[in-house]
Amino acid sequence: MFEPAHHGNKPFAIRVPALVVSRGAKDRINFLTAMWFTPTGSEPSRMVVAILKKTLTYRLILERGEFVMSAPTAKMMDVVVFAGYVSGWDVDKWQATGLTPVKPARVSVPLIGEAIGNVEYRVVRQIPFDEQMDLFVGEVLATHVRKGAMEGELYREDSDPLLYMGTKYDPSRKSLGKFYARLAGIERADYDSPLLKKYLTGQKKR
Ligand SMILES: Cc1cc2nc3c(=O)[nH]c(=O)nc-3n(C[C@H](O)[C@H](O)[C@H](O)COP(=O)(O)O)c2cc1C
Repeated sequence: MFEPAHHGNKPFAIRVPALVVSRGAKDRINFLTAMWFTPTGSEPSRMVVAILKKTLTYRLILERGEFVMSAPTAKMMDVVVFAGYVSGWDVDKWQATGLTPVKPARVSVPLIGEAIGNVEYRVVRQIPFDEQMDLFVGEVLATHVRKGAMEGELYREDSDPLLYMGTKYDPSRKSLGKFYARLAGIERADYDSPLLKKYLTGQKKR
C-alpha cells in the first residue's frame, strides 16, 4: 500500500515558498528562499521560520529585528531557485534580479513588487534550534495581497501563486530537474459527510 520514500517531509511539499527579505543596519537589502516555515496562531498571527546561521539573511534580520516574507508567482520560479542557491554574501541578489522595491507600511524592509503577497513581520522571539539554525518568530504587522488575487482567505482560481515541488528523479536517482505545480482548481468543501454531520453539529461549519 505504501512504499518508502527518500525525502523527509516531502508528502507536504506542495506549498507556496517564501522569499524572506531583510535589510541591514547599513541598508543592504537581501532575500533568500525559504521553505522551513509555518504560520502559528491567529490573533496575533505569527510566523515561525528557520534561518541558517551562515546566511546573510540571518545577519541582517538580527541587525533590524524585522523581515518581510513575499509569496512568489509561478513566473518567479527562476528567482526562487536563484535565491535558494546563491548567497547575498557573494552576489547582490536584489540588483541581479531587478526586483521592484515597494514601500512597506510598518517596517523598513521593502516589499517585492512582483510578488503575489507580502507580509511584514517584527521579530518577537529568536529560538536556538541547533548548530546550524535558529527559529525566528515574526509577529505579523501588515499583509499586502495583489489586487484581485484572493477572495476572502483563498487564492482565486485564476491567480498564479508558485506551488513549489522540488526535484524529480529517474529510477537510478539521477536528477531530472526542478518541477513545480500550479493551482488547478478550487472546490467548495463538502460538509455533509456522515462524520462531520455527526460530530460537527452546532459548531461553525462554513
Ligand atoms: C527550496 C529551498 C528552500 C530553502 N529553505 C530555507 C529556509 O527555510 N531557511 C534557510 O535559512 N535557508 C533555506 N534555504 C537555503 C537558502 O535559501 C540559501 O542558503 C541562500 O543562498 C541563503 O541566502 P543569503 O545568504 O543571501 O541569506 C532554502 C533553499 C532552497 C533551494
